[in-house]
Amino acid sequence: MLEVKNLHASYGKGDVLRGINLKVGKKEAVGIIGPNGAGKTTLLKAICGLVESRGEIIFDGKEISKLKTHERIRLGISISPEGRRIFKNLNVRDNLLITGKKNLEEVYELFPKLKEREKQPAGTLSGGEQQMLAIARALMLKPKLLLLDEPSFGLAPVVVEVVSEAIDRIRELDVSILVVEQNLSLIHEVTDRVYVLSSGEIVAECASNELERIEKTYF
Ligand SMILES: Nc1ncnc2c1ncn2[C@@H]1O[C@H](COP(=O)(O)OP(=O)(O)O)[C@@H](O)[C@H]1O
Ligand SMILES: [Mg+2]
Repeated sequence: MLEVKNLHASYGKGDVLRGINLKVGKKEAVGIIGPNGAGKTTLLKAICGLVESRGEIIFDGKEISKLKTHERIRLGISISPEGRRIFKNLNVRDNLLITGKKNLEEVYELFPKLKEREKQPAGTLSGGEQQMLAIARALMLKPKLLLLDEPSFGLAPVVVEVVSEAIDRIRELDVSILVVEQNLSLIHEVTDRVYVLSSGEIVAECASNELERIEKTYF
């Protein structure tokens, strides 16, 4: 579904990503773990065309690294960004409809809590519900590949559990997932495979059930 080859990215001075190679298969959920500043967000941005990059990005059989962000979205890549970026003054329903799509039924089926609260300003939702909304908004675009940037950020462990159950339900829709995280237990629960990113390079790769071994080496 996605293959990244020798990807470099920078914000002007010096490469923040230094030759990334990775793959996400059809229906596969893959995790990227790594400390603050490793380049996790930059990697997702580069896949979406939101930061300048060099190297190949092959999505669904097509080389997309020269395409504009909106063209990549049209092909089926969608992101739930770092910090959620929901519109706090808009209600839940309008946050979803702002994508310009009308896929509400399916999204509400996945997230019944959001339907219950559809008239509520997004800023009055709990942290977990706001995260669900950010993920739901990305799903409005019916992506083939969903990128999630730290979905557990700032959430209590029981709420992280709810987010991880939601990601499991999304997997059943045949969406491939690439999720970056610092929360290893979420990664362990929702992914098949994991890459470790450190200072802009992939330094290790393993099956998610081998995470414990990796954890001892890198964390
Ligand atoms: N907009 C930006 N302009 C300049 N440097 C940036 C910008 N965003 C991130 N960086 C730098 O790129 C590196 C990787 O950041 P980031 O991808 O956000 O890491 P992570 O998501 O793993 O915490 C850091 O050194 C950070 O300071
Ligand atoms: Mg980040």
